[in-house]
Amino acid sequence: MDFKEHIIDKITQVAELDRETVEKSIEVPPEESMGDFAFPCFPLAKVMRKAPPLIAKELAEKMSGDDVIDRVEAAGGYLNFFLNRGRFIAETVTAAREQGERWGSSDMGGGKTVLVEYSSPNIAKPFHIGHLFSTAVGNSLARIYKHLGYNVLSLNHLGDWGTQFGKLICAYYKWGDREVIEKDPINEILKVYVRFHEEAEKDPSLEDEARDYFKRLEEGDEEVTALWQYFRDISLPEFKRVYDMLGITFDSYNGEAFYSDKMDEVVELLREKGLLTESDGAQVVDLSDLNIPPCIILKSDGATIYATRDIAAALYRHRTYDFYKNIYVVGTPQALHFKQIFEVMKRAGWEWSEGCEFVGFGLVKFPGRAMSTRHGDVVFLEDVLRESVEKTRDIIKSNGNAVDDIDDAAKKIGIGAILYTFLKNSREKDIIFSWDSMLDFEGESAPYCQYGYARGRSILRRADGIDYSSPDFSKAVSDEAYSLVKQLASFSDAVKDAADKNEPFYINRYVTNLTKAFNKFYNTNPIMKEGADEETRKARLAIVDAVTRAIRTALGLLGIETVESM
Ligand code: ARG
Repeated sequence: MDFKEHIIDKITQVAELDRETVEKSIEVPPEESMGDFAFPCFPLAKVMRKAPPLIAKELAEKMSGDDVIDRVEAAGGYLNFFLNRGRFIAETVTAAREQGERWGSSDMGGGKTVLVEYSSPNIAKPFHIGHLFSTAVGNSLARIYKHLGYNVLSLNHLGDWGTQFGKLICAYYKWGDREVIEKDPINEILKVYVRFHEEAEKDPSLEDEARDYFKRLEEGDEEVTALWQYFRDISLPEFKRVYDMLGITFDSYNGEAFYSDKMDEVVELLREKGLLTESDGAQVVDLSDLNIPPCIILKSDGATIYATRDIAAALYRHRTYDFYKNIYVVGTPQALHFKQIFEVMKRAGWEWSEGCEFVGFGLVKFPGRAMSTRHGDVVFLEDVLRESVEKTRDIIKSNGNAVDDIDDAAKKIGIGAILYTFLKNSREKDIIFSWDSMLDFEGESAPYCQYGYARGRSILRRADGIDYSSPDFSKAVSDEAYSLVKQLASFSDAVKDAADKNEPFYINRYVTNLTKAFNKFYNTNPIMKEGADEETRKARLAIVDAVTRAIRTALGLLGIETVESM
């Protein structure tokens, strides 16, 4: 039963309006005491030539309650609808329990393919915290689209090509040591890379040397290519270690290098369309009519660049996956780059390119710490993850609760806390890292939601043996229960909003509010206490069961795991 639809039907009949008008104006009142839905009568005043409060009063009188609507009240110019709580709770909780992990899901995706490109670290540079932001958002979006019935592929567009490889290779020949690198690949590769920049400041001719190495790489020089392959091969397992910690897998690691032999075609296609013009020896697509800089396709030395590789990648993805959407989760500093390449593809007449979407995110700030790759003063991602797990372990210990597997709990909570932090606000907002709020078990945090889940599970464990499969929900219609179940019911809206705006924070907000309402519920509505009414207990247990499952599913859409005790 769709309660909102039922009310819309009722208003449509009684007020003799067309359904669409009613559908558009019906709203959820700002306060629960004003009912579950409200219909503003102001727009009717003109047609009916009456004051809105009078219209509301007359309509309320004509609209008696039924088994779905408990009562209708006129308040000012509004008609306020109060649902039959028992029925609403019964239907929602039963559906949520039946659907289990599918709660909040839909088949609106109809199996259409959505590509989510995220993480995409660079090999010659470290995997830094900005890539973790991309990883958190992308992983969550992939899960959200799956929940909506899309066929989702996660792509990691590795930065494994480009002038930085010229620099790395140049530096390696000068100061590199294979044995040292193999012991700690990412850090040592970074050291060599950082050294390049230090030395190049003193001796600018190194830049020319590096350019030459990249040219040799693009031309397929055997020795240089082997070295490139070597760097890629030793870096990948390092990245994968981090993905393992996060429980993330990718369907493809085709990075920039993969497209290096697919660019001639792009250059040709753009040339055929007459889009290329010359500018200082480079081949560019002029975008001055949009007031943005030209998109450089070929540099003056004939080398291709980032943008060309991205265009080749989009074309390849279209041909390979025939995507409905091709989403790029990349920091907002690259917004212009994507604007340029999307525009070039549009001008090339590639209609499918409308499915390409840039999903940007803000900066991560560590109070008191800078974050530049060039100078080696970076915050390492793995260190941050480890530190979070360690700190969590200490907190769990000092809380002194009986925890089954403290290592497992520390890991899931510590990592969950970081993911939650990235998904807490609208993604374009900058994030200021703070351990205190991240690991605040009572604030808006992953541990707070995970704790709510664990509490619910512990209540259910104590109820072992009680049959609460089909309770009488009219016994559990308190304000707290009702408000909790209303929150429970709004899951599918949250999932749709999240996908619609590519904003996982809708899910974050949903699960946080659900947990808050749940806390309030179990603190004020006794469940397993001695002497509580048997039927009431059963109805409340069923609510606990539905809610804990929903918390788990919603956290899952954020990539966050739950624990049974903490
Ligand atoms: N590797 C790039 C970086 O770290 C991000 C790649 C973004 N994706 C793309 N298709 N260009 O800045």
